[in-house]
Amino acid sequence: MRQVLYISSAPGLGGDDVAAILDVCRSNNEQRGITGFLLYNGRNFMQLLEGAEADLQWLLERLGKDPRHSGMVMLADNIVDATVCPDWSMQEIRLVEDVAQRRERLAGELPEGLAPEIRQLVMNFAALN
Ligand SMILES: Cc1cc2nc3c(=O)[nH]c(=O)nc-3n(C[C@H](O)[C@H](O)[C@H](O)COP(=O)(O)O)c2cc1C
Repeated sequence: MRQVLYISSAPGLGGDDVAAILDVCRSNNEQRGITGFLLYNGRNFMQLLEGAEADLQWLLERLGKDPRHSGMVMLADNIVDATVCPDWSMQEIRLVEDVAQRRERLAGELPEGLAPEIRQLVMNFAALN
């Protein structure tokens, strides 16, 4: 299994745009056994993706060409024994308005098996305002 974490830029997407992305994510990912989560803070996406190498390769190629975001930067790219969010075909993790509350809420929502260094990257992303 491969697991990647990336950030990208997408200033000004609306809630409907994000919902449309999530719809496609869920049906495609379910078919391919890809799992993960997606955060959007109004300017940037952060996405964790996990799945078989060939499936992730397929998706990363599409993501690289998707005009709805740009400037993808890989923060982590690892071979893992097991997926950490097997039940999430693509979980939207919502960031609450209040930054102080945001970290606390997020800490409880992230999957338990997430590697500490990945968890830290996600927590740092959430603290950006
Ligand atoms: C931030 C972001 C995350 C995405 N995540 C996924 C995903 O997890 N799975 C997926 O199938 N498509 C995802 N997409 C959509 C793909 O880029 C692409 O539009 C979709 O796979 C359909 O590709 P196609 O039009 O070539 O069939 C995402 C798009 C964006 C902007």
